Order: sequence, then structure tokens, then C-alpha cells
Amino acid sequence: MGNSQKLVINGGRRLEGELQVHGAKNSALPLLAAAVLAHGECVFHNCPMLTDVDAACRILSCLGCRCSRSGDTVCVDSANVCGNEIPDALMREMRSSIVFLGAVLGRTSRCRLTFPGGCELGARPIDLHIAALREMGAVIREEHGWLECTAPGGLRGARISLSFPSVGATENIMLAAASAEGTTEIQNAAREPEIIDLADFLNKCGAKISGAGGSTIVVEGVKRLEPAEHSVIPDRIVTGTYLCCAAITKGELILTRCEPSHIMGYLPVLEAMGCRIYPYGGGKLYINCTRRLTAPPTIRTMPYPGFPTDIQALFTALCSTAEGTSVFVETIFDNRYRHVPELIRLGASIKVEGRVAVVQGVERLSGAKLCAGELRGGAALVTAALAAEGTSEISGVGYIDRGYESIEIALRSVGADISRTGQP
Ligand code: EPZ
Repeated sequence: MGNSQKLVINGGRRLEGELQVHGAKNSALPLLAAAVLAHGECVFHNCPMLTDVDAACRILSCLGCRCSRSGDTVCVDSANVCGNEIPDALMREMRSSIVFLGAVLGRTSRCRLTFPGGCELGARPIDLHIAALREMGAVIREEHGWLECTAPGGLRGARISLSFPSVGATENIMLAAASAEGTTEIQNAAREPEIIDLADFLNKCGAKISGAGGSTIVVEGVKRLEPAEHSVIPDRIVTGTYLCCAAITKGELILTRCEPSHIMGYLPVLEAMGCRIYPYGGGKLYINCTRRLTAPPTIRTMPYPGFPTDIQALFTALCSTAEGTSVFVETIFDNRYRHVPELIRLGASIKVEGRVAVVQGVERLSGAKLCAGELRGGAALVTAALAAEGTSEISGVGYIDRGYESIEIALRSVGADISRTGQP
């Protein structure tokens, strides 16, 4: 990510205080795409200020929507959608731009776009998206790197069985099906909270979606969707990141505006490692860690409600100073250990073989120059650097900004010695 900024961290400070969790990137992006389907002005509250969200707004503008932001509220007026092409540069900027396909096709029966970019986590194909939309009547051709998609007779409902519960494919199908002719049934659908959030918003717009959060989602197509107002759910991965930052610095934090029921895939792991965590009313979570953590039982990343792949890097960082040996098995992506060589520069002892990482906990880490290569791996480097003795410098900050709102300001507010240098 082309900026020359760096995060400079003087490690060893205990985090203490209260920190607010921002809205979920992975909910905000499909919600913004969904606004294309509503004929008028949608209002999204708790919409995080992230570069990926900015990119989504630029895509909306290219499609003829009017977008504006005031604080954490984003308004999208899709009354005059006139475009159906997403420029290559914006498609390359983030992978989730593919979620616009279902929405644009649903609204205009046509969409022209290139293959999506985004963080490099190994091969990230879109075959499930394409196959599902074809089953719904879309004609999709690949020409000179462009996907030319049309729905000559309009989209129609279908029974779609996903071979893997892909989050993006489930979202694309829901978006395409919301105003398709007839009923769509998605079997083996993704069950993530972000899927429920999208269904909730679309239903506010007049869609008829049931079963979101379970493995079978039924979407009865309606003729037209109307605009609605919605609040984005809290970011469960940012929640986990802050919890790991507290845990690795033997800190004590209260997180506010989070949703404890969404983090059951990894919260018991933190407890097993020795953190004391108490959810209490009003979206608050208390964490306190007073002693050196111990290695958890084997961690295997799984689709929701299992242990999220997006939090794996953060836990590798955390386990690098825990007592004992931790074993990770990454089952979702085939290249999600790119942060490991950087953690090793800090003194961590980690061996990776294929999808397995073995972390031998060390007593201390020491500051080093590091480079973030993707979003969550970048956040893992910040987490480890908070505990490392001396100064660390992290480049590749642009990756971290995709998913964390001013991470240095948030962490500084609870006692970290962290600052940003250089030009954006
Ligand atoms: C979403 O990506 C998230 N992104 C990712 O968050 C997250 O890591 C991932 O779900 C898994 O939880 C957004 O929501 C914007 P998938 P997505 O389709 O939808 C394979 C973060 O750090 N697959 O569930 O792209 C794929 O290659 C990020 O915030 C196919 O084979 O994930 C992968 O191995 C990064 N063919 C697996 O499924 C397809 O057509 C999971 O992908 C689609 C996916």
C-alpha cells in the first residue's frame, strides 16, 4: 500500500482505560453495496472511517450515487443510479468490491468489472459468486480481463448450494436475490454476524429474507426496495485486536460499543490462556490480565461461529510470549502467515509448515523494524510491538488503515507509546 507512513512504538507500556470499538468494516462494505438497490437515500450510522469504506464510496459515486459523510454517519442516495461499470483501479483496491456485482446486477441488469484485488491471502477466487449468479440467470463472460455481466431476462430465484460457506458469495447472492423474480434458497450459507446485519438492512428496505445466521437462507424477491436507516454492527475483529493488545501488555481495558455474543469463537481461548474477561450490559467488555499467559489448546480457524481466520494473526502474536507451545491450523486461506517472518524479527520463535504454525513462547520480544504485508497481519505486528522492549517501526501502515480507524490514536488513549510518522 503506497504510503511512506510508519508507526513507531516504544513497547512495554501496560494498556489501561476505556476504548470504543468502531463499526465493522466487513458489514459496512456490503451494506454500502446494498444501498445501490434502494431507490433513494439510505443512512448508515456507526460507519467506520476506513480507507476501504472510502473506496466503497468512490465506487458508489462512479455508479451515480451521491455519498456524504458526517462523523460516523454515511448517507448514500441511489435515486439516480446511472452507471454499471466499476473502474479497474477501484476493483484492484479491495477484494470486497466484488460484492457490488450482485447489487448492481440486481438494480440495472448489467455490470462490468474486473477481478477484485485486496490483501494477498493466497488464491482468492470468485468462482462461487459467478456460478451462483449464473444459476440466477446472469450471463457472465470474461473478456480482456473484464467480467461482462448481464441479466437479459432479469435475475430469477434459484436453489443454490454453496460448496463452502463463502461470506462474499452469500452476500452477493442475497443482494442479487433481494429483487429477483421468485424465491432463492442458499444452502450452506455463511453464518457470520455480517450476514445477519445485511439481511436486517435489506429487510428494512422491504426485502423478504429469512434464516440469516443459519445455514439456509431464503430470499423471496420483491419488486422494489426502498431506502432505510441502519446502524452498522460493532467490529468483532477490532474487538479481538484490542483484547489481544490488552492481554499481551498485561493490561486492563474496558471496551465499549462492542457485541460480546459475536466473539464467542475466540473469547474462551483468551480465558483459557489466563485472561479474565467479563461482558457486561450495554455492549461493554472488561479484560484484565495480570500474569504471563499460557499457550492455548490447538487453534483451528473455521467459518463462524468457529475461531475466525481474521483473528489468527493477532493470536500468533499473543502466543509468541505465552508460556508453552501453541499450534495454529489455518483452514480458510492458504497464505495467512505472512506476518510470521516479521514476528520472528522481534524475537518470536515460530515455525510454519503449510497451513500449520507452531509458536514456542519466548519470555520477551525486542523492538525491530517491521513491514506489514496485509491488514490483520499488520495489526498483529502492532500488538507484538506493544509488548516488545525498545522501539519498533512498522511500515506498510496503509494495510492497517484499511480496517482500523486511527489505530495509533486509539491505542495511545489507553497508554501505549505509539505515533505515526511520514506523509500519507
Ligand atoms: C470475508 O472475505 C472477509 N471480507 C474477510 O475479511 C474474511 O477473512 C473472510 O470473509 C473469511 O471470514 C469481507 O467480509 C469484506 P470467503 P471473503 O469468500 O468473503 C474461498 C479481513 O481481514 N472461496 O468466505 O472474500 C476463498 O478463497 C478480511 O477483514 C472460493 O474458493 O471470504 C477462501 O479460501 C480479509 N471461491 C474461502 O473460500 C469463491 O468464490 C473463504 O472466503 C469464494 C471464496
